[in-house]
Amino acid sequence: MLVLGIETTCDETAAAVIERAPDGSGRILSNIVRSQVDEHARFGGVVPEIAARAHVDLLDGIIDRAMREAGIGFAQLDGVAAAAGPGLIGGVIVGLTTAKAIAMVHDTPLIAVNHLEAHALTPRLTDAIEFPYCLFLASGGHTQIVAITGVGHYVRLGTTVDDAIGEAFDKVAKMLGLPYPGGPQVERAAAGGDAARFAFPRPMLGRPDANFSLSGLKTAVRNEASRLAEITQQDISDLCASFQAAVLDSTADRLRVGLRLFREQFGAPTALVAAGGVAANQAIRGALHDVARQAGTEPIMPPPALCTDNGAMIAWAGAERLALGLTDSMEALPRARWLLDANATAPAGYGKTRAGY
Ligand code: KG4
Ligand code: ZN
Repeated sequence: MLVLGIETTCDETAAAVIERAPDGSGRILSNIVRSQVDEHARFGGVVPEIAARAHVDLLDGIIDRAMREAGIGFAQLDGVAAAAGPGLIGGVIVGLTTAKAIAMVHDTPLIAVNHLEAHALTPRLTDAIEFPYCLFLASGGHTQIVAITGVGHYVRLGTTVDDAIGEAFDKVAKMLGLPYPGGPQVERAAAGGDAARFAFPRPMLGRPDANFSLSGLKTAVRNEASRLAEITQQDISDLCASFQAAVLDSTADRLRVGLRLFREQFGAPTALVAAGGVAANQAIRGALHDVARQAGTEPIMPPPALCTDNGAMIAWAGAERLALGLTDSMEALPRARWLLDANATAPAGYGKTRAGY
């Protein structure tokens, strides 16, 4: 089964071709990602209108490269998948409309994929793992612990009540004058810093639910930074190291609780899997590894390039759905918001949460 996947929900324009064998294993034939970081850098974050226009300019060429690198023609495709949300609506429209056009012209099935589902199913492409497994999804827009019990069967066990982890990394970077995108910059700065210099709070530590909170920690970093008269490179490194250490402690605790809730509801997971851009962080990967081992389950971390947004994950999720006969009509709508777990509600006892709780 050959599937083309298109990703345009944020600031990566991406297309890929994957092959799924009858035994359920997958192979990446091409995976082209064009980051728009340069287009957005001077604004310190993603500008939706610029992103949408860049997707329009770039997507045709990216798809062409993906097809040529895979060495196939459109007529050979068994399906075309696009991320139909959640994400910045302008970009989503560009990707989904392009997929519809290809599907229509070449009379091949369309699969409108949930971007989060694509992150969630990636470890089945990279590591061929079986259901059920526990997913830790941490990106710029989402921070969730999810039980993945089958294709289309997702139960959210925990979520952030305010900022996403990636968002907190980006905001800390911004307040310290580090360039966008901030996550990798904070990680780099933290490597040369003293994690014990600032005693930042460990949000949610010890709570019986598996939810996250990042905004108080972010504010604590801002307060310490503003207390320093003149901020040196060493101060920045120490602030980053102390911030990252707090995120790690909190994340490890939340994952331990998440795994406990998983076992109570679904039995032993086959693995604890990391996904999303934050899973490119080596320290986060280390924490997830330790928590999984302590809990007697397998830590699985797809390579960083498949943790951050890419087309292969969309193509793969499309292939998994196609194999089950789950295709979409030309009426499929682009969606700015689209919960992975349709039954999930906003976590109780907190104020209004962000998109995609
Ligand atoms: O999944 P992703 O590529 O895009 C979405 O948000 O969907 O994730 C991007 C996020 C950004 O917030 C970025 O700062 C963060 O992942 N990130 C990192 C690292 N690399 C990317 N955060 C911490 N450490 C990193 N090394
Ligand atoms: Zn993503």
